[in-house]
Amino acid sequence: MLPASPAELDAAPVHVGGPSPLLLALSAQGIGGLAALGSLLFADLLGGWLPAPLLLHGLAAAVAGQRLGLAPWWFPINLAFVPGALWLQGAEIAEVWFLAGFLMLVLLFWNSFETRVPLYLSNRAACERLASLLPQERSFRFLDLGCGFGGVLARLGSRFPKAHFLGVELAPLPATIARLRAAILPGCTVCQGDFWELPLAEFDVVYAFLSPVPMPRLWTTALAQMTEGSLLVSNCFAVPGVAPTQVLPLPGMAHSALYVYRMPGPGAPSPCTA
Ligand SMILES: C[S@@+](CC[C@H](N)C(=O)[O-])C[C@H]1O[C@@H](n2cnc3c(N)ncnc32)[C@H](O)[C@@H]1O
Repeated sequence: MLPASPAELDAAPVHVGGPSPLLLALSAQGIGGLAALGSLLFADLLGGWLPAPLLLHGLAAAVAGQRLGLAPWWFPINLAFVPGALWLQGAEIAEVWFLAGFLMLVLLFWNSFETRVPLYLSNRAACERLASLLPQERSFRFLDLGCGFGGVLARLGSRFPKAHFLGVELAPLPATIARLRAAILPGCTVCQGDFWELPLAEFDVVYAFLSPVPMPRLWTTALAQMTEGSLLVSNCFAVPGVAPTQVLPLPGMAHSALYVYRMPGPGAPSPCTA
């Protein structure tokens, strides 16, 4: 149920405070069901062509989902959901695999539906650009908000032995893996928890690779807490309405970049409005 790429996610409409996408998707499937039922009533006209109701179900659900305001990546999901479920029912797959798949997804994505932040990993290029922003010669404190498997910490931790790296991750499986990786890296710590509960004032650099949804809240929190001159760096997702201090384009995906915000310090007015 995830977008194909972060850039796609950024370009997609964002529902903040509106009806849950899950509810909209269920409504779309309901509309698809009605369309399929309608097609069954007119089966004679379709010459008894069996895939027609299924096809109609998928198409109607996919179009309805878009009309209801779901982001574009829901189109293929709504299109293939019922045909895929029926196909899986017919396939000879032991039930235990469905349970295992479900548990794996829960442990990996945890409450992504609530946070609206899926699991993506920063690539090597992003880590290189990030490294170019960090001081080589002196100690600093770095926080990765939602550190996933701890890849960013592992890449940077080995290059900046004087620095202190902290990663916070909500989802149990990535958090456990990140913890194990951090255990063998001096200066790196990972804890499982909600990053909104952390005081950002303690960090010189706060790195976020999240989604468009939490960016306004992150900006308000960073403005209130981060000290003067500290950096908030967001991979792919700019803070809406705020001009970044620096934009470092990343190779590969269109529109992907590191958005760097030098913080004015608590109490100062928001520096620059785009
Ligand atoms: C896009 S991934 C980025 C992973 C890593 N920072 C990287 O760049 O490779 C975002 C991660 O943030 C985690 N996350 C989302 N909301 C969170 C929260 N409130 N507290 C802690 N982790 C959170 C998600 O579980 C997900 O693993």
